[in-house]
Amino acid sequence: MKIIITENYDQLSKKASEFIIELLKSKPKCVLGLATGTTPIGLYQNLIDAYNKGEVSFKDVTSANLDEYVGLQKDHDQSYAYFMRKNLFNHVDIKSENLNIPNGSAKDLQLECERYSNFLKDNIQDIQVLGIGSNGHIGFNEPGTPFDSTTHVVDLTESTIKDNSRLFSCIDEVPKKAITMGIGEIMKSKMVIILASGANKAQAVYNTVKGEVNTTCPASVLQNHPNCILIADKDAAKLI
Ligand code: PGA
Repeated sequence: MKIIITENYDQLSKKASEFIIELLKSKPKCVLGLATGTTPIGLYQNLIDAYNKGEVSFKDVTSANLDEYVGLQKDHDQSYAYFMRKNLFNHVDIKSENLNIPNGSAKDLQLECERYSNFLKDNIQDIQVLGIGSNGHIGFNEPGTPFDSTTHVVDLTESTIKDNSRLFSCIDEVPKKAITMGIGEIMKSKMVIILASGANKAQAVYNTVKGEVNTTCPASVLQNHPNCILIADKDAAKLI
């Protein structure tokens, strides 16, 4: 795993965007694996700026998002479909038919997981962007998730529900389940960029980089990825 430590969040966002901008220039028809959460927002803003300057286009890009809450309609303001439109898709020329995100309000969730897994088999991510949970999760693959998992429904852990409750009006509104791309499908990406910002991620970053590779810290599996870059700001990197 290559590690880049930046002075602050803005530099982290800039560094991450450089890799994606380079991909968009060299391979305009690419598959971009995208993440939600607060960490990639600065990266997405930089991509919007590059698009507005005419440096890059998304018109041939296929997106593949990591996860979605179960039970939230795609217009709910805390759904990840809404987040992606608000923070990236509405501001660039990506085609709506090329947007892919698990459907957390599908009637048959099992069928939806199979559909999404089949889509990923045919659309390997050129770059997969990841955040990291304070418990080391990637996507919503919580501790204990097998490394060969495919898209599946998860019960969110108490720590994830608590972390994410800051975005809801109260903790009871946070969905208890989600659909997530599996760790096996993340590991098949040609390149992985994992972003970590802030001191509350420092232990997870330590476990990811220096800990044993095991399912108690799902992100530790990335030590086995042939082309993974961790970009952490100095607060998140303070234990490594
Ligand atoms: P965050 O979430 O970017 O909002 O910290 C990361 C994650 O839980 O994967």
